[in-house]
Amino acid sequence: MKTFGKVEFGDFQTPLALARAVCGTLHRLGLRADNILEPTCGEGSLLLAAAEFFPDTKLFGFEINEQHLAAAGARLASAGHSPRTRLQTADFFTHDWEAELASLDNLLVIGNPPWVTQAAVGGLAGRNLPKKSNLDGLRGLAAKTGKANFDIAEWILIRLLRALRGRPATVAVLCKTATARKVLRHAWRNDLRVASASLYAVDAAAHFGVAVEACLFILRLGHNGREEADLYRDLEAVAPWRQIGLAGQDLVSDLTAYRLQSKYEGVHPYQWRSGVKHDCASVLELTRCGANRYRNKLGQETELETEVVYPWFKGTDLKNDAVATRFSLLLPQTYPGEDTAVRFRDAPLALRYLQQHQPAFAARKSSIYLRRDRFAIFGVGDYSFAAWKVALSALHRQPRFVAVGPEAGRPVLFDDTCYFIAMSSQQEATVVAQILNSQPCQDFLSTLTFPGAKRTVTVDLLQRLNLSALARVVGLEKAWLESRRQHPMAQLELAVSEP
Ligand SMILES: C[S@@+](CC[C@H](N)C(=O)[O-])C[C@H]1O[C@@H](n2cnc3c(N)ncnc32)[C@H](O)[C@@H]1O
Repeated sequence: MKTFGKVEFGDFQTPLALARAVCGTLHRLGLRADNILEPTCGEGSLLLAAAEFFPDTKLFGFEINEQHLAAAGARLASAGHSPRTRLQTADFFTHDWEAELASLDNLLVIGNPPWVTQAAVGGLAGRNLPKKSNLDGLRGLAAKTGKANFDIAEWILIRLLRALRGRPATVAVLCKTATARKVLRHAWRNDLRVASASLYAVDAAAHFGVAVEACLFILRLGHNGREEADLYRDLEAVAPWRQIGLAGQDLVSDLTAYRLQSKYEGVHPYQWRSGVKHDCASVLELTRCGANRYRNKLGQETELETEVVYPWFKGTDLKNDAVATRFSLLLPQTYPGEDTAVRFRDAPLALRYLQQHQPAFAARKSSIYLRRDRFAIFGVGDYSFAAWKVALSALHRQPRFVAVGPEAGRPVLFDDTCYFIAMSSQQEATVVAQILNSQPCQDFLSTLTFPGAKRTVTVDLLQRLNLSALARVVGLEKAWLESRRQHPMAQLELAVSEP
């Protein structure tokens, strides 16, 4: 018999009590259907609860795991629902959903699709994945570095929305709130005809034993409605506590507050960057233990030329308000694709050290390093070597911007859990950090950010800040302009946005 790993198949069966609460909510909202379908029905809790609340409907259940399906069949039979139920073994990813759904009018799709990411299935060498997985058409580096890593549930939901496009139907599923947001963003941006959407928070820790924000995600389909969704605090709530929605290309987490503050959105005059990505901390991240002596994370001490070693901040350092760096970074390249041997012509000790540790570089898992220079790193360029920068840790829930200057005359570098902008002077860094930390800016950022997300702040989001308008409202416009005028070279790098 085929085995079904719990993780690979995202197998968290819905407790019957929660299934009943879900169907109770759908019934209370006035939803009625002739056909109820569950595409990954597992042991059938949701079908069973749906049968109780919607007595005249036909029930259709699909599931890849035959044991689960047999259990579902037995439960529905013992409750007397067999005559109106059709259960079928099916792999969601290969099933012909257009054909399946074509004859089902007045349809409600319920479910709790697998809770697992594509990367997690891949990591298990699992095969429970769609064939064509690049949903947003993300290509190249973004796809490989994880921007395109999606939840299987996200793929399943978008697949269903595509199959149902333009048809009046309702989809109501339990899923991670982040998955619901991504599906909405995709549906709104790709004309998938969402008439209305709402998210009812569900306590995933209590019901599934997982610490993640989850919800009952309800989508009414058929025609395009407003690009906003109501958020409810729980399944019983009758009034939404806020709306999320699409503003421009991206979602905002509080539409009402956003609309009041939308003047702070606009052209951002700086280019935010991610820090250095190297995936070789054991070799490259060092602690200084003498004039030009360093200890790596394997505990080995070595002598290196200090010119190729930089002070190094990690996101956790910025988060913990560190004032001085704890680590140094041996930097094999100053721009992507640079030939390390050429760069280290005058640093033979460093080159020998890297060569000795070549196996650690070869063992790096991420495919971004394939067919690259053997010591390749990412996230470096001229901007990395600006003496002054404004940085923040992407790990911070509450974004806090720090003006960071050189240490012993060397520019500080950041790891890839930090974002930063290159500044032309200490004065500019100080005033820009002040503007970004001001209350109006923090309030505006909180209308855009989703607290449960892995990274609350992203580069895309930081690029949306209208720094001129923010500087004006906090009375720092003059100081900011002054700081930029003193360093005309800096003007060349700025995407022009004179207030
Ligand atoms: C989170 S569980 C939920 C089960 C059920 N819907 C419930 O609410 O209790 C996800 C279900 O999806 C099933 N599943 C996983 N991959 C599938 C696939 N490719 N095709 C169909 N079902 C799948 C799993 O076996 C599991 O029963």
